[in-house]
Amino acid sequence: MIIGFLGTGHITSSVIEGISKSKLKIKKIYISPRNKSLAKKLSKRFKKVSISKNNQQLVDKSDWIFLAITPSVGRKILSKLHFRRNKKIISFISTINIKELKKFTKNNNLTRVIPLPFIGTRKGPIIICPINKKVKSFFSHLGSPIEIKNEKLSRGFWSTSSFMAPYYHLYLNTSNWLISKGIKRKEAEEYIRNLFLALSFDAVNKKKLSLKQLVLESQTSRGTNAYVLKELKKKKFYKVQQKVLNSVFKKFKT
Ligand SMILES: NC(=O)c1ccc[n+]([C@@H]2O[C@H](COP(=O)([O-])OP(=O)(O)OC[C@H]3O[C@@H](n4cnc5c(N)ncnc54)[C@H](OP(=O)(O)O)[C@@H]3O)[C@@H](O)[C@H]2O)c1
Repeated sequence: MIIGFLGTGHITSSVIEGISKSKLKIKKIYISPRNKSLAKKLSKRFKKVSISKNNQQLVDKSDWIFLAITPSVGRKILSKLHFRRNKKIISFISTINIKELKKFTKNNNLTRVIPLPFIGTRKGPIIICPINKKVKSFFSHLGSPIEIKNEKLSRGFWSTSSFMAPYYHLYLNTSNWLISKGIKRKEAEEYIRNLFLALSFDAVNKKKLSLKQLVLESQTSRGTNAYVLKELKKKKFYKVQQKVLNSVFKKFKT
């Protein structure tokens, strides 16, 4: 199979990295000439990667085309490209729905996918919508695919995928606080990375416990975990999080 990535940015880099570590049988990978320096780096690093002359050549040469451009670029360029009927289009674009994608590409063979940067390590959930056997089989080499039948339901997952930077900011904030208490940055950051890593591992390993039970199990009555949780709740920390989820949700129209 020959595949092409329209848009050579962060997510394209991560997906190509994941593919390179997988057993997927890919003959060639075309990438668009933009961003020039990243495109050059990828083509140097991975034998199968070639930079296409332009976007139309990439579309013509690929069996599957991954849309890895921003929504505004997608709205500008997609309707100018010609996608033959036999092409499979996989869109990573966050805020263009299937109806619009069909209108822009004049192609019905469309699937929306939410990869996240850790796809480069072939780990983590990958949302696929609507259900598609071949797409699921492809992404099962790159992480844990989760199929969503209904595009309306996928909207929630787009919203939660916007919690990467805020999640890492929690690391940063906690680590900066440790530094303010006299701990060296290197030590503080290493401790925080490992603390959250262990917590995540634990959450995955204790699948039999619901998340509610996990919260309960992690605190002793009148202990410090119970105290911090109560204080954060009192200060509406989690209510604010829900509010922000609701507001980002509105950005992902279906
Ligand atoms: N990053 C993530 O974790 C993630 C996760 C899921 C979905 N997505 C979605 O994936 C898409 C890309 O995200 P990203 O983070 O990879 O963005 P990005 O790093 O900004 O990459 C976008 C790429 O598109 C290129 N581009 C701009 N105009 C173009 C054109 N006319 N033709 C071809 N390429 C063009 C840009 O090149 P220049 O640099 O030369 O402008 C850039 O290389 C977005 O829709 C985003 O919502 C991203």
